[in-house]
Amino acid sequence: MVSQDKVEKSVGWLIVLTLLVVSVGGLLEIVPLFFQKSTTTPVEGVKPYDAVRLVGRDIYIREGCYNCHSQMIRPFRAETERYGHYSVAGEYVYDHPFQWGSKRTGPDLHRVGGRYSDEWHRAHLNQPRDVVPESNMPAYPWLAQTKALDTVGSDVDAKMKALRKIGVPYSDEEIAGAKQALEGKTEQDVLIAYLQGLGLALKNTK
Ligand code: HEC
Repeated sequence: MVSQDKVEKSVGWLIVLTLLVVSVGGLLEIVPLFFQKSTTTPVEGVKPYDAVRLVGRDIYIREGCYNCHSQMIRPFRAETERYGHYSVAGEYVYDHPFQWGSKRTGPDLHRVGGRYSDEWHRAHLNQPRDVVPESNMPAYPWLAQTKALDTVGSDVDAKMKALRKIGVPYSDEEIAGAKQALEGKTEQDVLIAYLQGLGLALKNTK
């Protein structure tokens, strides 16, 4: 057996044993989460994203909104007073990948659903300064000019099939009707639909 003394003086042993300890410790913490009910069962009211919101979510990702907005309300008073109920794991089960984010140049968006009207979001996305004069959020005017089916929405059915393979319970009808649901909608329409649905499950509980 290697003695403590030897390990501390030999870089090779130190690296190997440190890696071993960190890996075993890491696995012990991470692996149980894959099987815990609270992390794998959706909380009541959380449903898979319909085609429109799913594509809206892709636009959120494409535009990099997560670089300035988190979707993770921490269980502290300062956060729950401002944003509402703290986020729980069961709200994210259909998020592949999740949009927790780690930077808050702007406010957290996990419970922004229903906070503003669609019209407010339109004005805000076209030019944030029109509704919030001191805002430093960029404007996204092109979203209103592009049809979702021409861009990220063009393969929405394939995307839903792929998500079904990893456990999102889409029915054949939902997948077959996906493109129809996007018909005529702009990228801005679907992004707003996505935002308006965020965090509703635990919205009115404190
Ligand atoms: C450079 C950082 C930045 C980026 C990128 C950004 N935002 Fe913002 N956002 C902000 C700031 C700052 C605010 C607060 C001022 C305001 O309301 O405009 C804000 C506010 C918001 C609000 C209002 C939130 C509230 O509770 O009042 C929404 C909704 C929003 N952003 C959505 C988006 C979306 C969608 C995208 C991507 C298309 C995006 N933001 C990209 C910085 C950003």
